[in-house]
This record gives sequence, C-alpha cells and structure tokens, in this order.
Amino acid sequence: PVIRREDYKPFEWLVPEVSLDFDLGLGSTRVVATLSVAPNAKADPSTTIRLNGDGLEPLAVQVDGEIVSDWSMDGYDLIIPLTGEGHELRVTTQISPAANSALMGLFASNGMLCTQCEAEGFRRITFFPDRPDVLSTYRVRMSGLKAHFPVLLSNGNLEAQGEGEDGTHWAEWHDPWPKPSYLFALVAGDLVANSDSFTTMSGREVALNIYVRDGDLPRTGHAMESLKKSMRWDEKVFGREYDLDLFNIVAVSDFNMGAMENKGLNVFNTKYVLADPDTATDGDFDGVEGVIAHEYFHNWSGNRVTCRDWFQLSLKEGFTVLRDQLFSQDMGSEPVKRIEDVRVLRGAQFPEDSGPLAHPIRPDSYREISNFYTATIYNKGAEVIRMMRSMCGEERFRAGTDLYFDRHDGEAATCEDFVKAIEDGAELDLEQFRLWYSQAGTPKVSVRLEHDGDTATLHLSQDVPPTPGQPEKQPMPIPLRIALFDRESGKHDGEQLITLTKAQDSFSFEGFATKPVLSINRGFSAPVVIERDIAQDDLVFLAAHDDDPFARYEALQDLVVGHLKDVIDGNLDDSERDTGRQAIAAAISAVLDDEHIDDLMRGEMLLLPSEGYLAETMLVADPGAIHEARQGLRAYLGTQLEEAWKALHQRASSVPFSHDAEARGARKVKTHALAYLAAGDVDGVQELAWEQYSSADNMTDRQGALMVLCNLDGPERTRALLDFYNRYKDNALVIDKWFSLQSMSLHPNAIEHVKALADHPQFTLKNPNRVRSLYMGFAVNPQAFHDASGEGYRMIADLILQLDPINPQTAARFVTPLGRWRRIEPKRSALMKAELEQIAAAGDLSRDTSEQVSRSLG
Ligand code: ARG
Ligand code: ZN
Repeated sequence: PVIRREDYKPFEWLVPEVSLDFDLGLGSTRVVATLSVAPNAKADPSTTIRLNGDGLEPLAVQVDGEIVSDWSMDGYDLIIPLTGEGHELRVTTQISPAANSALMGLFASNGMLCTQCEAEGFRRITFFPDRPDVLSTYRVRMSGLKAHFPVLLSNGNLEAQGEGEDGTHWAEWHDPWPKPSYLFALVAGDLVANSDSFTTMSGREVALNIYVRDGDLPRTGHAMESLKKSMRWDEKVFGREYDLDLFNIVAVSDFNMGAMENKGLNVFNTKYVLADPDTATDGDFDGVEGVIAHEYFHNWSGNRVTCRDWFQLSLKEGFTVLRDQLFSQDMGSEPVKRIEDVRVLRGAQFPEDSGPLAHPIRPDSYREISNFYTATIYNKGAEVIRMMRSMCGEERFRAGTDLYFDRHDGEAATCEDFVKAIEDGAELDLEQFRLWYSQAGTPKVSVRLEHDGDTATLHLSQDVPPTPGQPEKQPMPIPLRIALFDRESGKHDGEQLITLTKAQDSFSFEGFATKPVLSINRGFSAPVVIERDIAQDDLVFLAAHDDDPFARYEALQDLVVGHLKDVIDGNLDDSERDTGRQAIAAAISAVLDDEHIDDLMRGEMLLLPSEGYLAETMLVADPGAIHEARQGLRAYLGTQLEEAWKALHQRASSVPFSHDAEARGARKVKTHALAYLAAGDVDGVQELAWEQYSSADNMTDRQGALMVLCNLDGPERTRALLDFYNRYKDNALVIDKWFSLQSMSLHPNAIEHVKALADHPQFTLKNPNRVRSLYMGFAVNPQAFHDASGEGYRMIADLILQLDPINPQTAARFVTPLGRWRRIEPKRSALMKAELEQIAAAGDLSRDTSEQVSRSLG
C-alpha cells in the first residue's frame, strides 16, 4: 500500500512507559514487552489498539494482568480491543536473531547481538505502535549467558546488574528521556571498550565508551578524539549540551548503513569507527570524524526533537548533515570540505533529482520508507537549510535554531515547524522558500552578463524541470553569491548576495567602464545547475584569479566539461581540439605552480569531473564516448605535463607521514600525479607505482598506488594485489578495499575479475560492506558496468535477485544504477530496461526492491 503524507493522524493512544525483558540467545530470544497505555486526548477515541509487528507471532497477550484471547491479527499487526482509560498491555514474542539476515530488528553479527530499529525495525522485535510520534520512557532488562555476552548494553543509564543461574547474568537499563521506538537499542556481546570522559559546558562529567572486538581496540583513538571534538563543537556553535551521564558507541561489522543515533547507545558500522594509518586512508579518517559527529549531533537534531512521521525525515537528516558539514569545515579546510560536499551532491543527488526516483526533500508518498534514506533527503536537505543560513547570516541562523530547539524540545516535529522557527527566530521571510520542501528537481539557472556604457546587467532565468508526479513547477528563491572582477587588476569590489525569486530577472551594476568577469554561485550558495554563457578566456581567468576557492575550482571544472562535451559531440576538428586541450593543460599547469594554494586544495583542482557528472550534464549520454573523451584528455595531460607530474610526485614523496594538512595534501597530490602519469602511459610508471606501493608507510599511499596499478596490465599489478591480500587478509575493512579496487578498475578484464571475485572465499552476500565493496564499486565503474554487451547490467540484475531474499534494503540500493536507462544512448538503454523488467517479472520481490523497480520503469 502507498502511505501518504496528507493522511497523517495522531495515534489514538499514548504509551508513556515501556518495559522490555529480553532472554537473550543467538538462535532464539524471548521478549516480554509491557506497555502502559492511555487514550490520546489529541486523537479520535478508539476501542482497539493496533500494534505493528513484522513477522512476529504473539505467544501470550495480557491486558491489566489477565491473559486475553480476544485479540486478532490484521496482516502482521496485532489488534487488541481496549476500552476506557489507562491499561497495561503485556505481549510475549520469540525471535531468531541468527536467522535475521535483513539486519533490521535484533540480529547477530560475529557472535554478538545488536539492533537496528530505524525506521521500522522495532516491529521485528515486539508488537508496538512503531511510529516516531509515540514517545515513551524505556526500562530494559536483559539476561543471557555471561560467557557469550559479557557486555550487556541498552539506552540511558545502567541501573542494576547481577548474576543469574546456570552461568547467566543480567543488566537493567533505564532511559529517562522519552523516545520513539526507532531510537531503541540493545547490544550484547564479547566487547572491550576504549573509555574516556568529557566535561560538559555546565560542568557535568559524561563517561564515554567505544566498544569493539578485542583486537580492534588500538584503532579506536581517532573515533574517541572525534567524539570529544563533536561534543565541544556542538556546545560552542549550536549551544547544545549532552544530557546523559553516559555515551556509548558500539562498532558492528554487519550493518546496512553508516551508523545509528540510538539514544545514548550509538551503533556504528566498523567502517566509521576503526582507523589507524596502516589500515585507513586519510579519506577514511575523515569519514570516521564526520559520521561520529553526525550521530552525536542527532542527540539534539533527531532525538530531543524528533520527527512526527517519516515524511519529515529530512527534518533530522538534512539538518544533521548540515551540522556535520559545518563541523568538518571547522576541523579541517573549509573550501576543500565544501568542494567535497558539492561533489557528493552532484555525484549522487543531481542524478536522483533528474531520474525516475526524484522526490522532494519532504516526500508526499512512499511504499517502503527505507528507500527514502536518499541523497535528496540527506544532502539536498542540508543544502536547503544551508541556503536559509546564507540568507540570514550565521548569527540570525543561530537565533532561529535556538528557537527551534526551545520550542520543540521533547516533541515530534515537522519540517514546517523548523521553517517557522527559523522564520521567527532569524526574522527571515521564508514563504516562497517553502517550495524547496515541496518541489523536486534541480533548478537550472541561465546566466548572461551584458555590458553597456558603464553598466553591467546580469540576466538570470530559472527553470525547475518536471519530475515524476510534478509536471509543473513554480519559480523558487535562489540565493546567489556573486562578484564582478575587473579584468585588468584581477580584483572585485566585494561580493554580493542576490536572490532570484522570479522565472526571470535582471540585476544592474554601475561603474564598469569595461566588461567585468562574472563569478557566480560562489561557495555553491544554491544547489542549482548554472548554465552560463561565458567566454573560455573568462573561465581561464576565473580558474587562475577567483578569490573564492569554490568558484575557482568550478571555473576549471566548467572549462573541462565544456571541452569534453565539444569533443563528445564531434564539434571540434583536430586543431580546435588541440587548442582546447592546450588551454586546459595551461590552466592545470598554473594550478601546479600556484604557491598560494595548499596541496589539499590543489588536489581538488586536479581532479577532472567524473564520468557520472559529465553524463548528468547531457540529456542522453553515451558512456562509451564519455569514457573515451575523458581518458583521452587524461592521457594528454599525463604526457604533456610529464615532467611536472614527476616533480610533484617527488616533492610530495619527500614529506614524512603525519596527520597535518601539509602531509595529507602531499599524499593527495602524490597519487593524482601518479594517476596522470599512468593515464599517459609514460615510461617507467609501473615501476614508480610499485615503488610508491612498496615503500608506503600508510594506507593512503599504499591504496593510491594499488588503485593506479589495478588499471594497468602488468606483473606489478598481480604482485601488488597478492601482497596486499596477504598483508591484510584478516582485516575485513581492508579486504573490502581489495575487492573494490578491482571492481572499480579500468582494466579491460574487469568484468571477468568481478565474476571471479564473487567466488572468492572471502566474498559473502551476508555482509553489506563486502557486497557494496564488490558491486557498488562495479556499478560506478564507467567502463565495465556500461560494457556494450550489457553484461555489466546483467550482473547487477542477478545480484539484486540473489540478494533480495537475504537483505532487501541493501538489494534495493542496486536498482538505482539501472534506473538511469532513460538518459543513456538507445542500445544500452534497452539492455538496462530489459534487466529491470526481468527483475520486475520475478515473483516474491521485497517491498523495497519492487518499489524501486516499478518507480524506475514507471
Ligand atoms: N539515522 C541514521 C543516520 O543517518 C540512518 C539509519 C537508517 N537506517 C535504515 N535502515 N534505513 O545516521
Ligand atoms: Zn542521520
């Protein structure tokens, strides 16, 4: 059935208190849930209560202490007749964690037990009104064999513990903060903790623990530092203080997503906890810091103020992503973080917005909510709130968020509540701005600068493209930071923020005797596509002179995109193509020589736009032609600038390992240089890559070299892959890298390699990280996935069908790459569509996969 936002009704019953009693076992766990219930004065009265279940059987049902039998089942839900005022309900269920391969609810991972309840996993544990607007305080008692489960954790504070019979022990936890069921968590296992403490701004001491399996303890230091920094930062920047005496994190190796913000007991994918220089890249370190912050920040944006219903998901996710982005900007390089975030947005969210799965950041309907944990809800959601912040400035934005937290603390709120609080607190008129919540699709803004006398006039127009279910759109407010550069001096008179609110508008600027160069959407102030009518020389100028690092990066990207599109469209004869290439080589060369930028920024500027992004800029893309053109340019730059790449590689190689920005920057540009030399197939590049690989004293350099070697066909490739495997065969997270480097490789036999890897003894469909490492790597491999034979498409379709009965949530994620078929050239398009139809024709698909397939074909 389709769930609609407009159908929201408050639940008929309040459930102020819940107590859960777990008799834990891997194969079988018994759960006794006791619920105090009372009529909700804000809802229609009812003579029954509906408790959601998912695959459960009620073993016993009691009302007010008496066994009753007048309950019934409606599908998976349990319906109990109830009249009058308050009652106590008690329901017993029995579940099998070891058989739970979907990893929702209570499941087993490496001999431990843990939970994932968001969004609707709690109903796989016990019968409950499993919706985010039902808030309860939880008391949890659990008992189990001490030898199997020496550590017993749940939300809140540990109230009591003791020994039981036959080698069992028990613990009782109490969480004083009312919460929805999706924030419940339980963990039981053989774990060790990295323990520390944090003193909050009001002077309260909070015990911090990061629980991992025994051998992983030495890799938890970075996560702990990140946690303490997050706690301090949220106090300083948003005025938010932690509210329990204990904050626990547990790392789990089988996990569908990145992590989960359960109250006081965050559960993490090991990928976002464990890091040391030998096994984690600089990017992995950043990932840990960002996700630790994200989950911690949810304590206020998500837990203290939660969501009324799942249509409001972006209320907590969009806001929390913005908060973690701002945090990471403060911890490292602000412009580099901004560029990375925009790259993620363009790589994942823009394609979503222009494809069959497009939805507004506040969707109107869904069949399976798990399918809406998307780049749109998360990343575009963050951009929308970031625009509000840009429009009112940091200080007023803070007044708005203060009001929001104040007004809605302890409540289940809506996106509208958030907008209203910003409107009131920041004194910002957001009436038209609300369209950003209801309209899907990435606006296109056309830009033309006219010059006459001493006036420069900026002509802007916007178009919000049609998306499924939304054929027509209204113009939205688009805040654009701009600057007008004087060509001679290379300077401008200050940046301005203009807001385009109409379909088209013009803005005039006086005092320009000569035509200025326009820098627009600086800092990526709005999540839109800018279509600028600008001379190539002006792009070259901005790529060299723009003082906004993002705009400078953008100018170089635009220069490359424009050139590659011309090449792909066959618009250029040989000499025109050479002129274009030379301009790009000159711009890149200037970036290499520029002493005013650091290597972290230089690394960003050296990265060519991805093939996915290039495809996104075209109505219908030919992946083969895009790949050829982009590789052609890389090869040209590799040979043309050979000496410069070699010099850069050498300079960077002399910087000793450390975590400071200089050393990290050096590692970043080192591998870029190596990759360009490899693209140009210059003499001795295999040896140089092997040298980087074998002399590396950290994972960033080692993985970078291995990535380059994986694209090549030589003895060094085999040798390095074998060495890497043997060195790390006992470390699952590093073996994930070994799988993905091969599945992402541009090696001509990548398809064969992936097939062989699927039979590797270390491959399993049961572990989401492993599945993603092999097959997400493959699905983004521009060459192998789009092989003209259609074999790549077939492999992903086969994977979906195999994985769906095991883990529907993860299986459904693989539909997206096939869903691009409408925007791909006709031959491949037909092959992709045929695979989707093949999946659709299979019986017994999960709700997750069937929703994604039918939307993709729709
Ligand atoms: N709230 C989590 C986060 O963003 C994501 C959990 C989503 N889980 C899921 N199974 N859909 O931090
Ligand atoms: Zn989140």
